[in-house]
Amino acid sequence: MDKKFKRVLITGATGQLGSRLVSSGLFPGPLTPSRRQLDLCEDESVREYFQAHSFDAVIHTAALARMRDCHRNPALALETNMTGTLRLVRATLDKEKKIKKTLRFVYISTDGVYAGVRGRYKETDAAIPYNHYGWTKLGGECAVHLLRDHCIVRTRYFDPGDLPFTKYTADAYNSGIPLDELVKAIYGLLYSEFSGTVNVGGRRGSDYGRYRKYKTAVKPCLLKEIQKKTPFILSRDASLNCGLWRKINPYGAYRYRSFPS
Ligand SMILES: NC(=O)c1ccc[n+]([C@@H]2O[C@H](COP(=O)([O-])OP(=O)(O)OC[C@H]3O[C@@H](n4cnc5c(N)ncnc54)[C@H](OP(=O)(O)O)[C@@H]3O)[C@@H](O)[C@H]2O)c1
Repeated sequence: MDKKFKRVLITGATGQLGSRLVSSGLFPGPLTPSRRQLDLCEDESVREYFQAHSFDAVIHTAALARMRDCHRNPALALETNMTGTLRLVRATLDKEKKIKKTLRFVYISTDGVYAGVRGRYKETDAAIPYNHYGWTKLGGECAVHLLRDHCIVRTRYFDPGDLPFTKYTADAYNSGIPLDELVKAIYGLLYSEFSGTVNVGGRRGSDYGRYRKYKTAVKPCLLKEIQKKTPFILSRDASLNCGLWRKINPYGAYRYRSFPS
């Protein structure tokens, strides 16, 4: 772990993941602009923020992150997730040129860039998203590839302390990871030498199977019941092969519970 960062810019710091990254205390600095200070949808706002602040790494979590919102408002989804990420990448390239230093850039993407049908997806499998959210996040990924020192994290997470529904599917699968575990994974990846795309997740399982350990009152249901009420496509099996993460992670995936002390 040779990398040292003085100040990390965290976008989306008011969000579920961003706020947990900040409260973990793991990230030096950190710079946590509100949407008013750094609006992904405004060229000028992004440019000015990058010119006015110094930092040596970016963790980009800000997004229109709910599938329903992306379905209802595709123009805003494109503007925030695709063009917004492009604006950050452009500002990063400009800053790198100015300070003559490469910035580390971690982009939080999604398991929704895969087709969500057969599961156990590897990073080298085709990215064929199944709804607007996935396509716009994949669009963001395209821009991030142009940065020299980047890490694209394809994941799905849940907060064991905040499971809002009473019913969860028992016949649809994914590799959801607890929020605090994802925070530690992002920390490990920020400091790793790895540049590229990596899947980060827990064991393959259904939401019902996973969540009943944390909330005994949850009931099982079938995907088709949920799908009937949902106007956009949901995944049947979005599980991830996380072998690459295990290989590159400096602390070893699944061994985070004891780290950091
Ligand atoms: N939930 C999951 O299981 C999951 C799975 C895979 C990937 N992800 C990804 O993880 C990241 C974080 O998700 P989350 O669950 O923390 O989302 P969230 O709770 O909805 O938070 C989204 C954040 O983005 C900010 N934001 C939205 N539009 C913005 C704009 N135009 N300019 C600046 N900031 C803006 C929001 O700011 P305001 O407070 O001002 O609205 C908020 O801080 C996202 O990139 C998401 O795609 C999530």
